[in-house]
Amino acid sequence: MSERGTTKFQINLRRHLRERGVDPDLIHLICEIAKSSNYVINAIRTGDLGVAGTSNLYGEKQLALDVLADRIVTKRLKHSGVVGNVFSEEADDIICMSENCDGLYSVAFDPLDGSSIVDVNLAVGTIVSIFKGCNLLQPGRKQVAAMYILYGPRTTLMYSTGEGVHEFGMNQLMEYTLINENIQIKPKATLYSPGGLRNLFTPAIEEYVRQLELDGCKLRYSGGFVPDINQVLIKGTGIFLYPHLQGQPNGKLRLSFELNPMAFLVEQAGGAASDGHGPILDRIPETKDERAPIFIGCREDVAMAEEIIGRYSE
Ligand code: F6P
Ligand code: MN
Repeated sequence: MSERGTTKFQINLRRHLRERGVDPDLIHLICEIAKSSNYVINAIRTGDLGVAGTSNLYGEKQLALDVLADRIVTKRLKHSGVVGNVFSEEADDIICMSENCDGLYSVAFDPLDGSSIVDVNLAVGTIVSIFKGCNLLQPGRKQVAAMYILYGPRTTLMYSTGEGVHEFGMNQLMEYTLINENIQIKPKATLYSPGGLRNLFTPAIEEYVRQLELDGCKLRYSGGFVPDINQVLIKGTGIFLYPHLQGQPNGKLRLSFELNPMAFLVEQAGGAASDGHGPILDRIPETKDERAPIFIGCREDVAMAEEIIGRYSE
């Protein structure tokens, strides 16, 4: 593993993908998505906060940042020429970019996750899941790649094509160069990030969180899924949960464009991701916007969640 922040490696994203023998069309797609982040980051940094329906400096109608990010990424996907179907968190329906998907890729993405915390200047991100062919309602285990881009004080990109997880940082030329490769997560968490209202926790989740605290886990929750998962991967420890809640049996987060790509990345780093009963990546989504509870991060803590939930039969 490289030392973070050194200039030892100047390997850019395209070269890294090529050296791993990734299909040239998939390389093209991943690099196009990476390129779209140049425009998204610019919108985040320089745009008015973009409350939809308001006007900017020039009297032009403003788009909310998440809508803008959606347009930027969707346009890039369309122009890539290698994309069949698309699920976007911002679109109501599936977007069909090509009638014949033979040899093409399909993409599910959340253009700007955490858009509700962008106004307070906390970190947000773009999350992407990639399948071969047309079908986006497949188990996440069939993903051929997953990635996210994190817009924090620095912009970083994390990707996996099923051969480890690798982190890149955006340099002054707005190109991604390698920071960290083959990231690994330890078996046991020392941090925990719990989403959801505590007074809606079920008895099993109450016990689980109590046990994490007894085990010495510190609370570290940013309110953004991308920075919270990035924390687990970069620190190499931690557990994120957005559990089933009383009256909200499926939690909050969406399987296709939030949970599946993160579960793919975390499993690739030696961690685990469960809905409380089994691996997230084995679920077959029935609809585009299907939600599921999630326990993701260090494998011993994911196993503990399944054990406690099983005991309470929740
Ligand atoms: O997109 C959903 C999201 O904003 C995630 O980024 C984050 O993990 C979660 O919701 C936070 O939810 P809550 O505000 O309920 O803690
Ligand atoms: Mn989201």
